[in-house]
Amino acid sequence: MDTPTLTEQDIRKRIWQELGRATQDRHHEWRTPVLATVGLDGTPNARTVVLRHADAAQSRLQIFTDSRSPKIEELAAQPAAMLSFWSKRLNWQLRVRVNMSIEVSGPQVEAVWARVSQSAAAGDYLSASAPGDALNTSDKAELNSGTPREHHLAVLTAQVQDIDWLELARSGHRRALLGANNWQWLVP
Ligand SMILES: Cc1cc2nc3c(=O)[nH]c(=O)nc-3n(C[C@H](O)[C@H](O)[C@H](O)COP(=O)(O)O)c2cc1C
Repeated sequence: MDTPTLTEQDIRKRIWQELGRATQDRHHEWRTPVLATVGLDGTPNARTVVLRHADAAQSRLQIFTDSRSPKIEELAAQPAAMLSFWSKRLNWQLRVRVNMSIEVSGPQVEAVWARVSQSAAAGDYLSASAPGDALNTSDKAELNSGTPREHHLAVLTAQVQDIDWLELARSGHRRALLGANNWQWLVP
């Protein structure tokens, strides 16, 4: 997208508008960013996640996961992480530096679970084994047994530190670093 007339404030506003839309629209390209973390051995780790909530006023993004998944331990050890988004429609890439907090219990998790438990995704958070475990043939049978189980839903809240925004355009690429209160144009 060529956006010569957009001001810095317009771009910032549009970024958060599109992040908000991505949480509502299954087809939005920003719905499934890549979350990069530092692995427990210090090497990088990355995986696709679903963007569940975007709060422009608080500069926060939210993701749901299984509390037993390896990324939880990684984020507990090193909360600094990055979310990478690309949209071909917008021709915009975002590299969002975040500080991640993890909630595995409490009112917010229970409020989210109240909704998720009614959805098709409920099973993702109810399995007897943790994500990444070797597949155990009894897992599926247990899930279908009808016994109520404890959920393993965790809510990840990403406090945005800054956003590296890159726009690809025929007329010239543009890049900027958006801090909470500042704007720095960068060489693309
Ligand atoms: C399109 C797509 C969406 C995904 N969404 C999520 C998600 O919202 N939360 C999540 O924990 N894993 C999600 N996953 C699975 C992760 O990519 C990953 O395989 C899993 O969370 C285990 O990661 P870990 O071993 O690094 O913890 C998604 C995968 C794909 C392909």
